[in-house]
Amino acid sequence: MPLPALLFEVFTLFPEVFEPYLQSSILQRAHQRGLVEINLYNIRDWTSDRHHITDDEPYGGGGGMVMKPEPIFAAVEGVLGWPPACPVILLTPQGRTFTQSVARELAFGDDTSVPDQTRRLALLCGRYEGVDERVRQHLASDQISIGDYVLTGGELAALVVIDATARWIPGVLGDPDGVLDDSHASGLLEYPHYTRPAEFRGWSVPEILLSGDHGRIARWRREQSLLRTWQRRPDLLETAPLSKLDRKFLDQLKTSFISDEPEGSSEATGSDEPAQPPGTS
Ligand code: ADE
Repeated sequence: MPLPALLFEVFTLFPEVFEPYLQSSILQRAHQRGLVEINLYNIRDWTSDRHHITDDEPYGGGGGMVMKPEPIFAAVEGVLGWPPACPVILLTPQGRTFTQSVARELAFGDDTSVPDQTRRLALLCGRYEGVDERVRQHLASDQISIGDYVLTGGELAALVVIDATARWIPGVLGDPDGVLDDSHASGLLEYPHYTRPAEFRGWSVPEILLSGDHGRIARWRREQSLLRTWQRRPDLLETAPLSKLDRKFLDQLKTSFISDEPEGSSEATGSDEPAQPPGTS
């Protein structure tokens, strides 16, 4: 079997949480093809006391329990050596926000010129109220949050990171261009998709998609992406790479909104969806 492109070393108190998802998704196929490998380690196996204790009360008092540093350091050191042989990512609500571009950065690292090399990443899942601060300071080389909310542990966050990162590896998705078309890959939300039947309960597929005119279809899709992004996530337009044509289309959208036509203008959008100002749809 060739070396996997991506190897995750996951440190957790709940390895059983990962298995059902990893065995029933595209990730399982990626594993069978030798593209992505995931090793699960139970931090409890590195405790040295009779009761296998992994948490303790916080110094200074207060509620909740804190994960002890010794088993975490021992587990990571036992698997990755010291200093750790690869980046160690702590999943925590205090980390940098996980986005599609962070997923891509994790998949390819700084070194996109050596595609044959395995990229190894360690994911460290916290539990309870948190982990001893010395783990954050002296063991983690990166900290990632999957959003501004608090989960009961880092396991779901680690699965999110594994899934979104693995999708970037060539061969993981059936369609090699799939990841490039995704929402967020271009900095915009994705255009709408339709499949057969052409009419369902009286709702028709937009005529243009049946036209066979690939140039017009590509432009329509681009405009739909721009429209949706303007309606739902206008913040993304500030950083998305936009062509002159894109900017012209967005200007038209804004003008049609300012002119305040009764149903919004579907002229600029060529869409059934009325043009809505940002934040109202
Ligand atoms: N652990 C608890 N909440 C989390 C979050 N939002 N992201 C990553 N890890 C977490």
